[in-house]
Amino acid sequence: MTHETDKIKSNKIKNNKIKNKTKIVFVTGNKGKFIEIKEILEPFGFEVLQEKTDFPEIQADELEPIAKASAKSAADFFKIPVIVDDSGLFIEALNGFPGPYSRFVEDKLGNQKVLKLMKGETNRNAYFKTVIAYCEPNKEPEAYSGIVKGKIAHEERGNEGFGYDPIFEYEGKTFGELGNDVKNKISHRRRAIDEFLLKKSGVREPDF
Ligand code: IMP
Repeated sequence: MTHETDKIKSNKIKNNKIKNKTKIVFVTGNKGKFIEIKEILEPFGFEVLQEKTDFPEIQADELEPIAKASAKSAADFFKIPVIVDDSGLFIEALNGFPGPYSRFVEDKLGNQKVLKLMKGETNRNAYFKTVIAYCEPNKEPEAYSGIVKGKIAHEERGNEGFGYDPIFEYEGKTFGELGNDVKNKISHRRRAIDEFLLKKSGVREPDF
């Protein structure tokens, strides 16, 4: 997706603000992600609350079913509309690994070991993907995804961001070098939340 398409999309979203405030729970233990998504959603009429309760994640090779199952459990538990997000780094030369196992791999191996796995690989293509799942109590969950394509760097660079940011290059700079302001305009998470907003601020659903 180009910057231009992104610009058109955000303008479209800006012109379609939701009129009444809608309370929504974002289920995450990550304060940084909560603030990021709260700041994006509040101008569109959402009051975003944080819940840290962990719901057991199902195991799957794709992010969508994992995020949808967590959103469904959380919405039925809290009895209020919820969003959850699930992200992963997909490396082409490693057949999409670590993908849905990104958190486990980061915790157990870390960036240096991932770089070791990539040693000698000329194909450095990779992408980050986020799936935002939204669910209302007693309804079926919906999934919105965002992808940002880049390359795996040869070494860690940059002090900003978190997780795989220092090894993920976007147009020549790692996310760790780009910093949050730039990253949040083009990131996988931003693109997924934009998809969600387009749907919710375009045609309002009966219960929304
Ligand atoms: P989660 O599903 O968002 O918790 O992400 C799974 C794993 O991917 C965690 O280890 C995160 O640190 C990592 N991750 C998710 N989003 C990003 C990002 O934007 N930059 C770097 N790492 C990320």
